[in-house]
Amino acid sequence: MDTSAYRNAYELSMNDPPAFWLDAAKQVTWSTEPKQALNQTNAPLYSWFPDGVLNTSFNALDRHVQAGRGEQDALIYDSAMLGEQRRFSYAELTDRVSRFAGVLRAQGVGKGDRVVIYMPMIPEAVIAMLATARLGAVHSVVFGGFASKELAARIRDAEPAALVTASGGIEPSRRVEYLPAVAEALDFAGVADLRVLVKHRDGFSAKASDFSRWLDWDGEMAGAVPVGPVDVSATDPLYILYTSGTTGTPKGVVRDNGGHAVALAWTMENIYDVGPGDVMWTASDVGWVVGHSYIIYGPLLAGATTVLYEGKPVGTPDAGAFWRVIQDHKVNVLFTAPTALRAIRKADPEAKLLAAYDTFSLRTLFAAGERLDIDTYGWALRTLGVPVVDHWWQTETGWAICANPRGLETLPIKAGSSTVPMPGYALRIVDGAGKDVQGDEEGNIVLGLPLPPGALTTLWRNDDRYVSSYLQAFDGFYITGDSGYRDGGGYLFVMGRTDDIINVAGHRLSAGSMEQVIGQHSAVAECAVIGVADPLKGQHASGYVVLKSGVDIPEPELAKELIALVRRDIGPVADFKNITVVDALPKTRSGKILRKTMRQIADGEECIVPSTIEDATVIEHLMLALRPNSDWG
Ligand code: COA
Ligand code: AMP
Repeated sequence: MDTSAYRNAYELSMNDPPAFWLDAAKQVTWSTEPKQALNQTNAPLYSWFPDGVLNTSFNALDRHVQAGRGEQDALIYDSAMLGEQRRFSYAELTDRVSRFAGVLRAQGVGKGDRVVIYMPMIPEAVIAMLATARLGAVHSVVFGGFASKELAARIRDAEPAALVTASGGIEPSRRVEYLPAVAEALDFAGVADLRVLVKHRDGFSAKASDFSRWLDWDGEMAGAVPVGPVDVSATDPLYILYTSGTTGTPKGVVRDNGGHAVALAWTMENIYDVGPGDVMWTASDVGWVVGHSYIIYGPLLAGATTVLYEGKPVGTPDAGAFWRVIQDHKVNVLFTAPTALRAIRKADPEAKLLAAYDTFSLRTLFAAGERLDIDTYGWALRTLGVPVVDHWWQTETGWAICANPRGLETLPIKAGSSTVPMPGYALRIVDGAGKDVQGDEEGNIVLGLPLPPGALTTLWRNDDRYVSSYLQAFDGFYITGDSGYRDGGGYLFVMGRTDDIINVAGHRLSAGSMEQVIGQHSAVAECAVIGVADPLKGQHASGYVVLKSGVDIPEPELAKELIALVRRDIGPVADFKNITVVDALPKTRSGKILRKTMRQIADGEECIVPSTIEDATVIEHLMLALRPNSDWG
């Protein structure tokens, strides 16, 4: 096995990080080129390219136009929901982004201001993000499947100067009205007079007059003055993206401009092997990190064409939807979540629908968001006949911690493994005491500091929480929250979370925030939410509640009320449908709920009951109650 290209790159990144990253920085166009790679003066808070100056929107747009590729497709919008396709060349996208930057500027948005973007998968979402970046402002995109309270929490934390939204999103079963949710969120956040810009779409019932104080996207664009890219320091924030922590309060992951551009440009060439003129389709949502990095910034920084797909893998109209998009847009690289592949396989196990499409353009399929299970890996490989590459990362890192760097060197693929650490990631597997595990033992996956460019620099206005959440558990290391092991060849196998985060269909949800919501119900004395194995979605959230004494409520009725509460307060994305009433929750003598034990019982795994348990008989009762789970959804 010749691993020299990967090994050379990895070793250089470990032995001489400045040399490695200053070389990678040459892929970016700077207003002032960085001479210094890393600023360590505030360790453990690090910043990359401290003397560099650039604009990310310029790098994603203008420079390709200046290089003579203005007529090339930058963005293809494909809506399976509307049966519509639209293409935007680099020149057109640059024009729209410049004009929308003018709209935002006219509303007082300037460098460093935050803009919250709550939008479905339409081109205006991409335009709003790039326009914000053009002004040197900071976007914070909130996924459309979150309810108004979650939106409000993000508004409260980010303190935006403006909010950009659309009249609604289209789900297969219904139209989701955004404007009432936005109005409610502004009320909750106490900012009812925030400037709001609305892209109106046909077919939504929210009357414009109800929200007449808000500005209309089309009207404002008609008279907009285009704005050029504003220089920012490489260390200035490009965006904040909130992600679930173990508590109910989301964490505002901060991404800088310079490190992000350098890292993503490196990944496009070396991991995805995508360059100018190639077509990349990432079937995710702009509200997730995968959407930020590989629907928008990565492909556009590389001068490639990106596909923005408004639709689902199945049911819009059928399980051939992905093959149709690959054919229509000659997609070279597809990136999706394993759950989408499982959904297609469930609907069309032999992929009979594939025969109707020409998917010859496809070179590689990348998967992330959750572990690519061996069964699904095998099915995708047999079905598509192209390399299927699992790669592991998280909102915090912004790009793959472990991957098979196809552009650099095609390492052998091992099913179930996300291959090897990428440059800059000093990966270690440690036990609870922080000692390296032996051989292929499973342990906590941690990363030596500093993290490479592109990874989070801190949490929004909360350095203390950044340090306490990620850097305190093991001195000198960032804790990923995942556990895993490495085989003799150094390949990583990620096994799951070590904390109370639940991964539903590649969406990261906090058990704690669901418990907070359920705990509000007048019948509930205490509750626990755990992630239980799910054949389609990887995991689903299951709630276990203990009733207050004397409460008499039929279980189906309680379940319906709790499901409605979670949907109202967190959103449909939680996909919370399972409730079981139990006599008691297993706890340690200090009162900590034994979630891991519960998860093992619910998954039918062998469980070792900790000796610190308060009352061992609870386990026997749970064994009976937890299997099978009731599903009232
Ligand atoms: N706005 C409003 N509601 C949304 C939404 C959005 N942007 N996205 C999802 N929802 C709603 C859905 O309508 C559904 O509501 P329902 O309970 O009323 O039916 C609920 O949230 C759960 O949606 P979803 O997770 O999409 O489940 P599903 O059963 O409708 O579809 C899959 C299953 C596998 C097809 C779907 O989960 C999927 O496409 N997954 C891919 C995940 C992905 O791309 N993850 C990104 C990480 S890389
Ligand atoms: P998010 O921040 O929403 O992208 O979720 C990140 C988490 O999803 C990781 O910490 C993992 O738990 C899980 N995850 C993402 N990709 C993978 C993968 N390829 N293999 C295993 N787990 C993954």
